[in-house]
Amino acid sequence: MILIAGGSGRLGTLIVRRLEARGLAVRVLTRDRRRAAHFEPGQVEVVEGDVRDGRTLGAAMVGVSTVVSAMHGFGDVGHVSPASVDRDGNCRLIDAAVAANARVVLMSIVGASATHPIELFRMKHVAEEYLRGSGAPWTIVRATAFAEFWIDLLDQTAATSGRPVIFGRGANPINFVSVSDVAALVERALVDPSTRGATLEIGGPQNLSFNELAAALQRASKRTATARHVPRTILRLLAAVLRPVQPNRARQIRAAITMDTIDFTFVATDLHRRFPELPVTSLADILAHRSLTSESCAARL
Ligand SMILES: NC(=O)c1ccc[n+]([C@@H]2O[C@H](COP(=O)([O-])OP(=O)(O)OC[C@H]3O[C@@H](n4cnc5c(N)ncnc54)[C@H](OP(=O)(O)O)[C@@H]3O)[C@@H](O)[C@H]2O)c1
Repeated sequence: MILIAGGSGRLGTLIVRRLEARGLAVRVLTRDRRRAAHFEPGQVEVVEGDVRDGRTLGAAMVGVSTVVSAMHGFGDVGHVSPASVDRDGNCRLIDAAVAANARVVLMSIVGASATHPIELFRMKHVAEEYLRGSGAPWTIVRATAFAEFWIDLLDQTAATSGRPVIFGRGANPINFVSVSDVAALVERALVDPSTRGATLEIGGPQNLSFNELAAALQRASKRTATARHVPRTILRLLAAVLRPVQPNRARQIRAAITMDTIDFTFVATDLHRRFPELPVTSLADILAHRSLTSESCAARL
């Protein structure tokens, strides 16, 4: 049995589907089973639990031989944080895996380090180090930014005005990877014993600025308006004001400023030399697939 913490999420859902297609037994750990309602009834086993509370992990671990951590505490759902989920939650999950003699595949981020300016990256680094020293057989998969997540966010902000919103100048090149390519790598890590003890880094074929990403989205959506920018000074002010009342949102804004500022480029040559059969999805393919999906949804309405 493979337990996937974060199996209800964007990446986790694709991992679950790939493993099910292989006929492997999968269990999704979620804080609320309604968040796993997109799986067909009976298609996947769902268990409620929260990595912030170790007592809730017992039932999830029964019969488990492999644990996948595809979760994070950087989002808006619940009172989570990178410290409570990515650091402490991962450590709890790893302890549970060790107790069950299970191996662990941990999702992390390209650039995770003890000194990174973004808290999430520092917390992922702690989890990586904890896993390496845990005694459990392990594989770490580090990914760059998920293209689909950022495209959806730009598209949502364009919903009323037709103009996507970019935080900062949007000129800094960033590596974006398709989440489906990341799911293919996690699947490979789960079935290929040669990946044990490896830290695998995946990125997409291009480094693009947010200005370029938004322009590509506009072209694909047949919109002509240009993006709007929120200046860094306003972002800093917003982050400071929101910090005591909405720490998650303040954290996301501070991260956006950092993404606008420091080097986020990446070249994934090493990984593709090692696994040449892994897919490399281009931005054009992501956008084309996206518009096909929304057209077929519209046709069904
Ligand atoms: N998004 C990116 O650009 C990016 C880039 C590099 C690496 N990653 C990593 O890839 C993985 C997947 O990211 P994603 O964007 O696909 O995630 P996502 O769609 O935002 O989903 C987040 C998942 O985390 C789970 N989660 C959050 N708090 C939890 C808790 N306290 N206990 C148990 N589960 C909890 C959620 O489960 P429920 O809500 O169902 O409880 C949900 O399934 C994460 O490890 C992330 O750090 C993401």
